Amino acid sequence: MTVEERSSSELARIYELARSPFDDETLKGQGVALIFERPSLRTRASSSSAVHELGGYATFFSDEEIGLESRESAEDVGRTLAQMYAICAMRVRSHAVFNRMRIATGDQMSLVNLLSDVAHPTQAVADVLTIAERFTDGDVAKLAGLEVAYVGDATNVTRSLAVALLRLGVNVTVGAPEGYQLIAGGDEDPGAVTGGGTLRLTDSPTQALREADVVYTDAWVSMGFEGQTARRREDLAPFRVDESLMKFAKRDAVVLHCLPAHRGDEISNEVLDSEKSLVWRQVFHRRSAMLGVLRWIKEEEK
Ligand code: CP
Ligand code: NVA
Repeated sequence: MTVEERSSSELARIYELARSPFDDETLKGQGVALIFERPSLRTRASSSSAVHELGGYATFFSDEEIGLESRESAEDVGRTLAQMYAICAMRVRSHAVFNRMRIATGDQMSLVNLLSDVAHPTQAVADVLTIAERFTDGDVAKLAGLEVAYVGDATNVTRSLAVALLRLGVNVTVGAPEGYQLIAGGDEDPGAVTGGGTLRLTDSPTQALREADVVYTDAWVSMGFEGQTARRREDLAPFRVDESLMKFAKRDAVVLHCLPAHRGDEISNEVLDSEKSLVWRQVFHRRSAMLGVLRWIKEEEK
């Protein structure tokens, strides 16, 4: 559901399973239900292909088809799917839907969060793998001390990323204007992570990038916020990741973005298409992350 509710050893196992050789017996003959209440390219592609590579088959359900909470309650959708599927991966508008489905289905079905309003954990797994690939030859346990700066709107992606990195001892600085900054509490709370890296919050984009090894940004207008587009573009303009802002980061700093990118808004073409950009490795690792998560679920079932 969130990175926060997985222990550090569980996360370590997920990272390990994401990178190690696998076979197509893991999900042999088993179905995985994929529900998307919101649009997706990377998440749908990576989850479908990971299920297929592990020997299973994916069944896709769009919101129009099943009418989650309109045609039928989340509980009854869950109870129905649990009769036929052991795993259901979902992209939902409201995180509360996960909790209600989990209560309704108990241990009959494993749920995977493919993005909610508060968290995007499979993206965070992919981001950790991408950063480790660049800085520590893939070894996530050696990332402690790295400096990651997130700038822009502190989104669902920011929360899961921050929790995952702080757990590994990475220091995270979030640069966002008032009203767009991380708020402590809730289901994916970076403020609750103790004993790992340090979380710093600032309203200065240049201050956020000081000492940054990694600069990360996400959309200014996340799904569901389209009605605020004009105001958000104005409020967040100083946080655009462009060549002039990148001068404040370390010279070798790399750039990440979960995508889809809004070129010219939160990130410039020059930066997104530069050698500093690792966005296509992030996309690659979305598949690795799903392999890791699905393999871990099957291990836990044993
Ligand atoms: N990063 C990400 O989740 O992309 P999609 O919305 O295209 O799945
Ligand atoms: N924060 C973005 C992430 C998209 C992958 C959104 O929720 O729309």
